[in-house]
Amino acid sequence: MKKIVITGGAGFIGSHVVRLFIKRYPQYQIFNLDALTYAGNLENIRDIENEPNYTFIKGDIVDAPFIEALFLEHQFDGVVHLAAESHVDRSITDPLSFVKTNVIGTMNLLNAAKTIWNGNYEGKRFYHISTDEVYGSLGSDGLFTEMTAYDPNSPYSASKASSDHFVRAYGETYGLPYVITNCSNNYGPFHFPEKLIPLFINNIIQNKPLPVYGDGKYTRDWLFVEDHAIAIDLVFHKGKNHDTYNIGGFNEWQNIDLVKLLCAIMDEKLGRPAGTSEKLIVYVKDRPGHDLRYAIDASKINTALGWKPSVTFEEGLERTVNWYLNNEKWLHNITSGEYTSYYEKQYS
Ligand code: NAD
Ligand code: DAU
Repeated sequence: MKKIVITGGAGFIGSHVVRLFIKRYPQYQIFNLDALTYAGNLENIRDIENEPNYTFIKGDIVDAPFIEALFLEHQFDGVVHLAAESHVDRSITDPLSFVKTNVIGTMNLLNAAKTIWNGNYEGKRFYHISTDEVYGSLGSDGLFTEMTAYDPNSPYSASKASSDHFVRAYGETYGLPYVITNCSNNYGPFHFPEKLIPLFINNIIQNKPLPVYGDGKYTRDWLFVEDHAIAIDLVFHKGKNHDTYNIGGFNEWQNIDLVKLLCAIMDEKLGRPAGTSEKLIVYVKDRPGHDLRYAIDASKINTALGWKPSVTFEEGLERTVNWYLNNEKWLHNITSGEYTSYYEKQYS
C-alpha cells in the first residue's frame, strides 16, 4: 500500500490527476490536499469522492506546522504537487499571493518530505508540476527544450521558476528524489473560466464580449488535460530521478485563430447563424509583459517514456465545448460570487 498525497486535486488539472490515480491504482491510498481557494471546487471530483482509496484533506500548503504534522501523521511515500496560484492576470494584480503559495508552499512540502523521509529515499518521490512559462517567450520560431534557460516574465512564471529551482536544489543538496515537468497550456472539462478557452465559451453562451488582448497574435501550444494527466502518471512512475521533462501538445495556435474556431463551433452547437459569435470579439488593452509565443519540444518524454498526445485538438475542443454546454450548473455556480467582482475589475 503506497500513500500518495496529490496537492491541488480540487483544481482543474489536479482533479483529472486524482481521478486517474484513483481509478488506475486501487492499491494506493490517495490523499487530495487542497485549500479550496476560489479555483478549488469539490464538484470537480464529486464522482470519485466515495472511493475507498480516496481521502480529501482541506488544508493550506502555506501553513508550515500544519503541513509538517500532516506528513508526520500519514508518512506519505509520494508527493504529486499541483497546488498553485495559476492565473497570470491575477499574478499581475496580486504577486505576493503567488510567492506565498507557489514558493513558500512548495518549500513547506519539500521540508516536510525531507523530514519524514530523513535520507531513506527508497520508493519515495517528490513530483513537482510546473509550466513552460518559466522559459519566458519565444520569437516566431524555435521550441522550448529541457535545456532552455529560465527567463520568466510574469510574477506567476517567476514564482513557478523559483519553486522549480528549490525542488532541484533539494535534490542536489539533500538528495531528495524529485522529478519536474514543464507543460504547455491545458484545456478541457473543469477549466476555471478565467482562462481563455472556458472564459470565451462562457461569454459566447451569454452573448458577452470576447476580450482579445492586444492584436491577438500571441501563440500558445494547447494540450487536452487528460493527456497531461496521463503524462503525469507516466513520469511519476517511470521518470528518471533528478530529471525534468517538457510536455506539450505539438499544437500551436495564434489566439485570434483559436477564438474564431471556437466561435464557429459554438455557433453550430447553439444553433446560431454562422458568424454570430465572431461579432462578439473585441480587441482590448494588452496584458503587461505578455509572452509572444510558447511552444514545447516534447521529444524527450516521447523518446524516454513513449508519451505523446492521444487526443486531437478537433476532438478535444469538441469534448470541451460539449462538457460546458452539458454542465451549465457548474458554470453558473462558479461564475457567481467572487468571479463577478474579479471579472469587473479585470475587464471593465
Ligand atoms: P487551478 O488554479 O485550476 O487549481 C489550483 C488548485 O490549487 C486549486 O484547487 C486550489 O484550491 C489549490 N490551491 C491553491 N492554493 C493553495 C494552497 N495555498 N494550499 C493548498 N491548495 C491550494 O490550477 P491548474 O490550472 O489546475 O494548474 C495546476 C498546476 O499545473 C499548477 O501548479 C500550474 O502551475 C501547473 N500548470 C498549469 C497549466 C495550465 O495550462 N493550466 C499548464 C502547465 C502547468
Ligand atoms: O503555458 C502554461 C500556462 O498556460 C499555465 O502555466 C498557466 O497556469 C495557464 O493559466 C496558462 O497561461 P496563459 O497565460 O497562456 O493562459 P490564459 O488562458 O490566461 O491566456 C491564453 C492566451 O490568451 C494568452 O496569450 C492571453 C490571451 N487572453 C487571455 C485571456 C484570459 C486573451 O486574449 N484574453 C483573455 O481574456
